[in-house]
Amino acid sequence: MTAGDSSPSSPSSASIPSVPSIPSSAPLTDWSAFQYEIYLNGTTGAVPSLPTDLTALERVAEERLDPGAVGYVAGSAGDGKTARANRDALDRWRIVPRMLRDVERRDLSVELFGTRLPTPVALAPVGVLSIMHEGAEPAAARAAAGRGIPFILSSASSTPMEQVAEAMGPDAVRWFQLYWGRDRDVTESFLDRAAASGYSALVVTLDTRLLAWRPRDLDRAYLPFLHGIGTANYFTDPAFLAGLAKPVAEDLTAAVLRFVSLFNNPGTTWEDLAFLRERWKGPMLLKGIQHPDDARRAANAGMDGVVVSNHGGRQVNGAIGAADALPPVVDAVGDRLTVLFDSGIRTGDDVFKALALGAKAVLLGRPYAYGLGLDGQAGVDHVLRCLLAEFDLTLALAGYRGPAELSRDALTRA
Ligand code: FNR
Repeated sequence: MTAGDSSPSSPSSASIPSVPSIPSSAPLTDWSAFQYEIYLNGTTGAVPSLPTDLTALERVAEERLDPGAVGYVAGSAGDGKTARANRDALDRWRIVPRMLRDVERRDLSVELFGTRLPTPVALAPVGVLSIMHEGAEPAAARAAAGRGIPFILSSASSTPMEQVAEAMGPDAVRWFQLYWGRDRDVTESFLDRAAASGYSALVVTLDTRLLAWRPRDLDRAYLPFLHGIGTANYFTDPAFLAGLAKPVAEDLTAAVLRFVSLFNNPGTTWEDLAFLRERWKGPMLLKGIQHPDDARRAANAGMDGVVVSNHGGRQVNGAIGAADALPPVVDAVGDRLTVLFDSGIRTGDDVFKALALGAKAVLLGRPYAYGLGLDGQAGVDHVLRCLLAEFDLTLALAGYRGPAELSRDALTRA
């Protein structure tokens, strides 16, 4: 059975002329050319220093990087059921390639919140990146900016948001991810700082009001925040510092305890969202949405978008694979909200499938953290180029010229 059975047009009637056309003025980037760059370099004997199959990065990171740091990134909640379910949910969809369509001119661009972006990919908020590489968030953000890709900075970054903004340059697209803690003064201060340093959208993560049971970290008793890593935005914040008796440098333990006490915030409800909506003027998205009713509540609360995500399987073990949550959310709010997707994206065909299921763009998580750990900014750039080259080739070989032409008709169930 194809997904098209549930939509008005059947797969056989899906035709290119019926979908939005590619704007002829669009700046087209040939992402697929990366493969010939690699082959041409190979004529001198050079081969890529990192795998081009991004599913292999975790193994290479485990071989080469600090076990605690890699464990923190690779690990998930519980026994990892939901992290595996994320991959399975994407794998259960299969692409049905179409032949003899003109795919010479392709356009990977998408428009998000009034901004045209060259690709439907953004870097997900990933905290504490300094455990992977000394270049940390600025290195990853520069790599993203270099390819025109939005960078979403975590509240729990190891670099203050102003420094990351400066590293990216004034024109690069950046969004700020909020961990919505107990202290409203700190929250307000974060929003003011983010707006002042050019973060154009706010991503409010809802699935991490408590840290989940994560055996891989527990077995090593590894939690970077307790060492003051991943707390840079807090330790540079006037409202946070106002609650401390002594400067951070004189009493790190007190600062860490204050961070922990305001981070856990399981009492917030939908009603509290109004506080954020009133204070943030730009686009606002809720991250961690998995139920269509929650997506409808997001729309009713005046949000601009949702990120269908289960935090890469790091929070509710036993939860459904994120790609299984995507179609019901798209069906519920796709006409009212911008629906983005993450959790399990590793390959170009994963990007294709998420877009065909109705996501407007995807966020990439762990693969770029491994790229950063293995080769700093260049490693993140490598990961982005591999993902986008593979996506571009998948599009072309399957008979599509860009995200605008994808729909569920392009897929079938395995
Ligand atoms: C995350 N994620 C995350 N999300 C968020 O909103 N704020 C954060 O600070 C973090 N930090 C973080 C650290 C690490 C090490 C990982 C792996 C993930 C979740 C992230 O944004 C995204 O939802 C997942 O990474 C997507 O799943 P994949 O692509 O990693 O499978």
